Formats: sequence, structure tokens, C-alpha cells
Amino acid sequence: MMDAPVSYVTDPFPPVSILEALWRASWGKDPEADLQIVLAHSLGHVGAHVGERLVGFVNLAGDGGVHAFLLDTMVHPDFQRRGIGTHLVREAIALARRRGARWLHVDCEPHLEPFYRRCGFGPTAAGLIRLDA
Ligand SMILES: CC(C)(COP(=O)(O)OP(=O)(O)OC[C@H]1O[C@@H](n2cnc3c(N)ncnc32)[C@H](O)[C@@H]1OP(=O)(O)O)[C@@H](O)C(=O)NCCC(=O)NCCS
Repeated sequence: MMDAPVSYVTDPFPPVSILEALWRASWGKDPEADLQIVLAHSLGHVGAHVGERLVGFVNLAGDGGVHAFLLDTMVHPDFQRRGIGTHLVREAIALARRRGARWLHVDCEPHLEPFYRRCGFGPTAAGLIRLDA
């Protein structure tokens, strides 16, 4: 199963219960948002599948213009460290380009900076504020 081929699907619109389960497994906590609404606002998303099973996911949010933001990169722990996350992000970069974005943003925790560098992201100064604290 772990060595089974992985297929990458654009806009699979997974059932929310499936996506929530993948979220919990990947992040170890419940999603903060209603994922049905997140999917409805998506510029595009990519799912990684092993057979029928969703094992990875990444989402793109857009501003309707030239900017897009990469969000919610996740791979089920049973399938991590075999290149699926990198492949998902590269598919999402290509998808953002096809959907008309010219700039793709991402932010992450420091330990994942090398992961995103290897996916093609350059460094930038950015800011982040928690609004509900
Ligand atoms: C981050 C995540 C998506 C990576 O998925 P993945 O399929 O394991 O990634 P890859 O196999 O493509 O990793 C490629 C390289 O990135 C780096 N990398 C991947 N995960 C890493 C981690 N958790 N910590 C540090 N470096 C990591 C490694 O250099 C890795 O190469 P290696 O396996 O040869 O050492 C996955 O760990 C995950 O779902 N984490 C929980 C959710 C999360 O934090 N998402 C990030 C949101 S910004």
C-alpha cells in the first residue's frame, strides 16, 4: 500500500468528511474553518490519491487578479517523506499559473523553509498577524 502509485488530481472536490479526516491526521488537530466553504472559494486545489484514498492535499486561494496563495499543504503521516508533498506543491504552482496568477505566495514554519525552497519558492520578507487572539 505505501509503495502504491500516487495519482495527482486537479480540483477533486473531496467529500468534506474525507478532507477533515486527512487534516486531523496530518496536523493533529481539527480544521479551524469550514472546509466546504474553503473549497467553494478555492482558485484550485490538488489531491494526491492512492487508489481511491485521499492521502495528500493542497489549496490555492486567489485575489481575482495576479496573486495567489498556497495553503493547507498536507500529506497523511503514513505517506510522508516520499516526495508527495513536493509533487503536490509543484502541481499547485503549475495550476496557479494556468489559472492566471503571476505571483504565488506561501508562508510556513521555519523548519519547512527548505521544503518550500526545494519546491521553487524564493525567500521574501512577510508578515502575519493573528486576528482572534
Ligand atoms: C509538510 C508536509 C506536507 C511534507 O510532505 P511530504 O510528502 O512528507 O514531503 P516530501 O516527501 O516531498 O519532502 C521533501 C523534503 O522536504 C523536507 N521536509 C519534508 N517534511 C519535513 C518536515 N516535517 N520537517 C522538515 N523538513 C521536511 C525534507 O528535506 C524532505 O526531503 P527528505 O525526505 O529527503 O528529507 C507534511 O510533512 C505534512 O503534511 N505536515 C503536516 C502539515 C503541515 O505542517 N503542512 C505545512 C503547511 S505550511
